Amino acid sequence: MYKGYEGDCVEIIPTIEEIPQLIICDGPFGPRMSKDSSWYTGEVDGIDWFKACHEKVDPKGVIVVFVPTQLMMNSQYTAMCNYRPLTNVLTWTHSGWNDIERGWDSRSDTKKWTNNICIFGQQHHAEQSEYIGHYPIEELKYHPHQKPVGVYQYLIDRYSKDGDTILDPFAGSGICAKACKNRDYIAIDFDLEPLSRVMKDINASLV
Ligand SMILES: C[S@@+](CC[C@H](N)C(=O)[O-])C[C@H]1O[C@@H](n2cnc3c(N)ncnc32)[C@H](O)[C@@H]1O
Repeated sequence: MYKGYEGDCVEIIPTIEEIPQLIICDGPFGPRMSKDSSWYTGEVDGIDWFKACHEKVDPKGVIVVFVPTQLMMNSQYTAMCNYRPLTNVLTWTHSGWNDIERGWDSRSDTKKWTNNICIFGQQHHAEQSEYIGHYPIEELKYHPHQKPVGVYQYLIDRYSKDGDTILDPFAGSGICAKACKNRDYIAIDFDLEPLSRVMKDINASLV
């Protein structure tokens, strides 16, 4: 079953009836595009979404949060780490990321990302760390922030089992759906149009 909700995940998560065993958060850390289309390095304050995830997740479930390594010290990340229980933080970096303003968002330079790799490491309770691997950046077919499907596959294989429900509160492309075989998948984003294209490609539909 694939389900999609369009809107703010902070408002939507409490209304979801299903209890997810795995929540994968690739939220809006880092630089944002301003209304006049220039770049600035603001960040989204507040961890309401994180609290909402903790209230919703299965008590034995797992929450994974993607944090760009370069932004590990930002205030949102610090607030998250101070909020217990923090389950898993998946830090990632990008081999081509030497200019934060140009490297962050591929809307300006898709090829740069397409030819590079994401390097993921993982911190459990921000205490131990574990190397997860290099994942090639795939063609950004659906969304400028699309992460490699292999990363989702790894997380889903490791932290869930057949029949579980996966919640993707910042779905973006919804590429995660491609890795959700034998799982239920629930996506939230302000815009679900990219997900509708993923659904078409995997010959599935949203309920
Ligand atoms: C980094 S992108 C996610 C990319 C995704 N992991 C992928 O692989 O395609 C973050 C997404 O979060 C969405 N977003 C930001 N704030 C949100 C909120 N409060 N509720 C729901 N979606 C939000 C944005 O629209 C954007 O698509």
